[in-house]
Amino acid sequence: MRKDSDSKHARRTLAVLAVFAGMALILPGAMQAANAQRQIAVPPPPMGWSSWNSFSNTVDAKVVMDQAKAMVANGMAKAGYQYVNIDEGWWQGQRDVEGNIVVDAKAWPAMAAGERAGDMANIVRYIHSLGLKAGIYTDAGMDGCSMYPDLGPVYQHVGSEGHYEQDFLQFAKWGFDYVKVDWCGGDKEKLDPAVQYAEVARAIGRAEGVTGRRLYFSICEWGNNSPWTWAVNVGGSPADIWRTSGDIVAPIVPHEKHSGRLASFAGVLSNFDQGIHPEAEHTGFYNDPDMMVVGMPGLTDAQNRVHMSLWTISAAPLLAGADLTTLSDATLATLTNPEVIAVDQDSLGLQGIKVASYGDGLEVWSKALSTPGERAVLLLNRTGDPAAITVHWGDLGLSDASPASVRDLWARKDLGSFSSSYSATVQSNDAAMLIVHGSEGKLTTYAPARADGARKDQEVSFTQVSSRVRMARVRISYTNSEKAPRFADLRVNDRIATRVAFPPTGSENKAGEVWIETLFDREGAQNVLSFTPISDPGLSIESIAVE
Ligand code: GLA
Repeated sequence: MRKDSDSKHARRTLAVLAVFAGMALILPGAMQAANAQRQIAVPPPPMGWSSWNSFSNTVDAKVVMDQAKAMVANGMAKAGYQYVNIDEGWWQGQRDVEGNIVVDAKAWPAMAAGERAGDMANIVRYIHSLGLKAGIYTDAGMDGCSMYPDLGPVYQHVGSEGHYEQDFLQFAKWGFDYVKVDWCGGDKEKLDPAVQYAEVARAIGRAEGVTGRRLYFSICEWGNNSPWTWAVNVGGSPADIWRTSGDIVAPIVPHEKHSGRLASFAGVLSNFDQGIHPEAEHTGFYNDPDMMVVGMPGLTDAQNRVHMSLWTISAAPLLAGADLTTLSDATLATLTNPEVIAVDQDSLGLQGIKVASYGDGLEVWSKALSTPGERAVLLLNRTGDPAAITVHWGDLGLSDASPASVRDLWARKDLGSFSSSYSATVQSNDAAMLIVHGSEGKLTTYAPARADGARKDQEVSFTQVSSRVRMARVRISYTNSEKAPRFADLRVNDRIATRVAFPPTGSENKAGEVWIETLFDREGAQNVLSFTPISDPGLSIESIAVE
């Protein structure tokens, strides 16, 4: 085992020197110098809107057109929202003799010359014509959640079981870009979600093979079967999201049954807490704490900001659930704050971690960002009283010895430069969202235990690994000369930890880097990390660096 200590600062300096010198550095640490410039961006969490929270089973072409238009007109599309997702209620379970889905022609009419009523391709074309992407919904079981309707009649057989091949091909042929697959039917039949969702993913893959169109995969079994342990790359999916909890609130549809329902701040916090599984959130795979209820009845403007802060610090999918045609200016400003959205969409793709807590309910959350030395920080006050909360640079993995600048993302204001810590008074049930920009703390680099003999498709192990914190950030340096991502299973201390995606690093055989967060459950330098490539040539894991 080889072990060098380095700091990103030093590596960056070396890298800059290398560029100026116009030649490769042959110095100790030169490998890190090259690597520092090769951080590979991973797919960000999806952003968009979903019909469920505000329209329930009343969704139809008119609703979807109005929402899509609003998303463009109100600036959300420009801010990064792109999916217009049709949730439950678009289909009532009818199929023709060949098993093809038949939809209500009145709800989904022809919208342009030459179109046929009852063809979902019509609404997709409309959504695409606005520069947006289209999402659709089904269930992995035989029945869907329409067997327990929140609104309107009971519909049976609104699921895809027995028709995976046919339905996912149909969705892709209609032109959809995204599919959410629910679990009401699977749950009723006591199916195994890891098995069913893998089959769905394979059907999606085959549909892509036929149509060239990839459906982004959204898994919705509410976290009941610990999807963070199996949903990463399930059935070969190159990127996906999985729900980690139930719904924050059942739908609130104006003028319909239950229109007096309210979303609650406690519900938002509870879904946030259930969504924290940083060990599974990396390289394009994300925990999904539910569509957002920002701007829906029940939350104040301040609570909406906290909600958005919680979702973005955890790199959650940002799927708005409010009616986009009636957003207040304050809600719109909350949903579109570019600096807050940038935290969510950061190309490192990591989830925020709670790095300090004081008493009961005063918490510091930190999300590492792709700019070296930068952390998004949330000071969260869950208590009934205003309180001062302090963030220490050391808790963020930044150097204590160097000052760091602090910016308030909601006020969009620089607060100044501070040495070693920053304190703010945070109101009850409120949060401050900051960017702290300091100097990276030291990382320790490890070379593989058996670098010499290792074949490309064999396990690569790193032994005697230690970390400053139990949930540690690990930078993985690798090459993938292929055109598509490659995957490897990670075991930590003989636990199956997760599967990591390694996007292409280009043909020149230059190493790139991705980051993960993983649990070091052994004391000191007793931890062992092993990567086993999934039968793919082309992937070579070179080294890891640990904070
Ligand atoms: C489940 C999901 C919701 C929504 C409804 C539709 O409850 O969790 O997000 O899709 O089904 O019935």
